[in-house]
Amino acid sequence: MPNPSLLILPGDGIGPEVMAEVRKIIDWYGAKRDLAFDVSEDLVGGAAYDAHGTPLHDDTMARAQEVDAVLLGAVGGPKYDALDFSVKPERGLLRLRKEMDLFANLRPAQCFDALADFSSLKKDVVAGLDIMIVRELTSGIYFGEPRGIIEEGNERVGINTQRYTESEIDRVARAAFELARKRGGKLCSMEKANVMESGILWREVVTEVGKDYPDVALSHMYADAGAMQLCRWPKQFDVIVTDNLFGDLLSDAAAMLTGSLGMLPSASLGAPMENGRPKALYEPVHGSAPDIAGQGKANPIACILSFAMALRYSFDEGAEADRLEGAVETVLAQGLRTADLLGEEGAEPVSTSQMGDAIVDALNASL
Ligand code: IPM
Ligand code: MG
Repeated sequence: MPNPSLLILPGDGIGPEVMAEVRKIIDWYGAKRDLAFDVSEDLVGGAAYDAHGTPLHDDTMARAQEVDAVLLGAVGGPKYDALDFSVKPERGLLRLRKEMDLFANLRPAQCFDALADFSSLKKDVVAGLDIMIVRELTSGIYFGEPRGIIEEGNERVGINTQRYTESEIDRVARAAFELARKRGGKLCSMEKANVMESGILWREVVTEVGKDYPDVALSHMYADAGAMQLCRWPKQFDVIVTDNLFGDLLSDAAAMLTGSLGMLPSASLGAPMENGRPKALYEPVHGSAPDIAGQGKANPIACILSFAMALRYSFDEGAEADRLEGAVETVLAQGLRTADLLGEEGAEPVSTSQMGDAIVDALNASL
């Protein structure tokens, strides 16, 4: 059997720095666990625009379709703010999601014990929090037609369209039910069926799919009430399934509850390929943080945990994913903190590469 293949797209801002730490982890698995990967690297986002005048070259897109998993750092930065919408760095990421048909975006919001004080919420509200948001990622208002800015009378009108087919709702609902079944057995679906027809259909289809999962307790919430409940008592949730735009907002809110935006990974999964593995792209939830790029201040943990998700969801290496997540918990328990994890009075932060090295040490200690 050939080694599984990984395409690494570090992207912009802190992307390359955090990805360099992931490379250390990947190398460790090859050297110490007999789990070698064929790794190739390419450009995405602003970096691709600088080199090719497009945020994602067709060759890179084709390569992404062939590999077993894509790991992405981050895209975007102020340097590209003035670019035409069609070539902005974000378009590269959106193209990957759309053409790979990565419809199920898994965004865990987990509160690490060592960081519970870091949340803006009271410790008992967040300590032990472990929820999973499943965001639909390839449809809805992000991609619906018609869209654009048109002239109407003597003014311009901005148009976007929320659109969901039954099959799009069905497949993401199934992904969420499957996860809920393996976790706490609860699924909450969020839409705005009180205002939007797409929300009415969403609720109907999710309810219908739920009949195939009698072991999962299904509930429904309007997305605004869901946002409120996430802040009030987030531990009531296990898995949340929602559309593309609500999922974008709710997952940022949920991430911040944990006090550790720099810590949260994500997986974007599509249909199974011929080898049985799902089409997959893994990326940290945080952005490119251009203000601290190139200074060794970035926290590589979200990107490293994204690789842990790859081990679990693409390569069926759940025990190795547990090992890597355990190594992260170990270094946090030892008190290691990158700058983003220090309070006002903060002690000396460790650098991006010191954090990566410490996680490798913890992996060695786990053997
Ligand atoms: C995210 C980001 C993206 C999105 C941007 C960068 C296009 O906010 O992954 O949540 O809106 O989906
Ligand atoms: Mg977002």
